[in-house]
Amino acid sequence: MDKIRIVGGRPLEGTVRISGAKNASLPDICAALLTDKPVVFSNVPEVRDIRTMGRLLSDLGAQVDFRVGGCIEVKAANLTSVEAPYDLVKTMRASVLVLGPLVARAGKARVSLPGGCAIGDRPINLHLQALEKMGASIRVESGYVEASTRRLRGTEIYFDTVTVTGTENVMMAATLAEGETIIRNAAQEPEIPDLADLLVKMGARIQGAGGPTIRVEGVDALHGAEHTVIPDRIETGTYIAACAIAGGDIEIRNCQPAHLKAVLDKLRETGIRIEEGPENLRVRAPRTLKASDVTTIPYPGFPTDMQAQYMTVMTQAAGTSAITESIFENRYMHVAELQRMGANVRIDGRTAVVVGHTPLSGAQVMATDLRASASLVLAGLAAKGETIVDRIYHLDRGYYRIDEKLRGLGADIERITERGLADRRAQARAPEPAGTAE
Ligand code: EPU
Repeated sequence: MDKIRIVGGRPLEGTVRISGAKNASLPDICAALLTDKPVVFSNVPEVRDIRTMGRLLSDLGAQVDFRVGGCIEVKAANLTSVEAPYDLVKTMRASVLVLGPLVARAGKARVSLPGGCAIGDRPINLHLQALEKMGASIRVESGYVEASTRRLRGTEIYFDTVTVTGTENVMMAATLAEGETIIRNAAQEPEIPDLADLLVKMGARIQGAGGPTIRVEGVDALHGAEHTVIPDRIETGTYIAACAIAGGDIEIRNCQPAHLKAVLDKLRETGIRIEEGPENLRVRAPRTLKASDVTTIPYPGFPTDMQAQYMTVMTQAAGTSAITESIFENRYMHVAELQRMGANVRIDGRTAVVVGHTPLSGAQVMATDLRASASLVLAGLAAKGETIVDRIYHLDRGYYRIDEKLRGLGADIERITERGLADRRAQARAPEPAGTAE
């Protein structure tokens, strides 16, 4: 299993290019199940979750053609299966995004329930209640959700809790329903209008995506389209945090600053200088970072997907900060690993209290989920000595070549195999060859 080795202490300089958004690409690709015509995507990040989704769509009978440079064509002329099996869903919860399109197009779906994960319980009850209200009959048996209907009916859905993939599932399902669906308390994350843009190009009739109320007027069929996925706002935020913690002056290209307002505001409060262009950012680290409290909330608030990275930055800020996670009840798995590197963090209910300005020292640490992994890489950039981040398959699920991108900015970081690491350690322990010692 690969690991990442980082030797901290080098400021970052140069330019980094942001990839397409993983969390936009995943629902976008699933939307191709709604039509028998080809849908072509560009700016899709070549990360593991996208490969996994490609495999799931192929298992359902779609032709999935991965081309070079982040271009994918999906053609679901015939669906040969309507099942998302446990083996895939347990490795990637976003597999649940095939539910809405399958029920809408094929009139049935059998999707494994995802179960809990490293960041919380993450039920899908709101997805199911909404589809039921749209006329699907839903049963849960042997760990699977079985949904069926002759044709979904438009209705009014009110989400008790803002749910991103829930909003996406219902919006996709509603495109082929009979009549109008109104989604209230809809998620407003930029991934929602991105999906709506794609669906509209495919012939759907959608209004209000990006706001709290979305109206979808169902149509009889959708057609093919071409779509460029939006840049990844969380990857962008992660590189700003990297510059903040390592020090330096970097340019971030191919990003969408308008999607990061809460993150940019918060990071500016800590003293980081950020200049915005239309599709780029210049980031300059301050001599001293200042502590600032934050609470994660749905978009346009500060994203839960930036909480772990922000916490790492706060370990190096002057002062004490309170970081409150309001979306997922268990998203503090990175804390114990940061503590092993010397961070002073205490969890009090849903709040982490971070006492800043504590020196970090390199250690062997374990990644537990995607964003926790990123926070450990950032800690490695600031730590004295060598940090080895284990279980980086989590990182590979959502960050395209983070090691290469950071190395391009001057960080001392590399991907190594277990064997390579053992050889390196043995070499370090070996006595100097005879004749070279003074
Ligand atoms: N919730 C319910 N019932 C539901 C659905 C959600 O109670 O039926 C609760 C969840 O337990 C959570 C809250 O609602 O407390 C919000 O969850 P949401 O459904 O919005 O999360 P998600 O759609 O499963 C997406 C992203 C996550 C991101 C969250 C929040 C994708 C593929 N995943 O998950 O991304 O953290 O929204 O913004 O879009 C990541 O990229 O690292 C990641 C975890």
